[in-house]
Amino acid sequence: MARRVGEVLVSRETIARMVETVGARISRDYQGREVLLVCVLKGACVFLSDLMRHLDVPVKIDFMSVSSYGAGTETTGTVRILRDLDTDIAGKHVIVVEDIVDTGLTLRYLKEMLSTRHPASIAVCAAFDKPARRKVAVEVEYVGMEIPDAFIVGYGLDLDGRYRNLPDVRVMTDDDGQGGTP
Ligand code: IMP
Repeated sequence: MARRVGEVLVSRETIARMVETVGARISRDYQGREVLLVCVLKGACVFLSDLMRHLDVPVKIDFMSVSSYGAGTETTGTVRILRDLDTDIAGKHVIVVEDIVDTGLTLRYLKEMLSTRHPASIAVCAAFDKPARRKVAVEVEYVGMEIPDAFIVGYGLDLDGRYRNLPDVRVMTDDDGQGGTP
């Protein structure tokens, strides 16, 4: 069934307020410390660039690219690192910046793997969260916004590499009008 970009689920104005709120929380929690924002490519790049400008603590950034292996469209939790960090994170206050938490499998793997590198602390900040889809428990310290079980695009999120540039978050819809994660 053909899928098309549907209605706006989260407007650009709502996203802007969400980023401001999360940024203020992180700035308060990390007063007096320097943070290393680890951006999980590619989806989190838009969120990272907005978020970092709302932090008033010293910030460094680094990038990581991962691919999730799975049968069909679902991730299995087996994650391959396509691009590793440039930075040694030992002793650093790391915040992993993600676009969206779905099953939680990718983040759980990333958090466990990065923890073995002895950061001073590690937390996760996700722009969006789909708690209804969670398969494994993973603590997400900063969530911008919870959303229902729908496949969304825009604000960095893609379908087959497209639509990351849309300024609002929109729902992908089947031609029969049904949404939901494929
Ligand atoms: P998880 O391991 O199932 O939590 O997968 C998280 C990753 O799946 C995210 O970083 C996204 O790249 C992708 N993903 C999950 N849900 C969506 C969605 O609704 N739109 C676009 N990408 C999604």
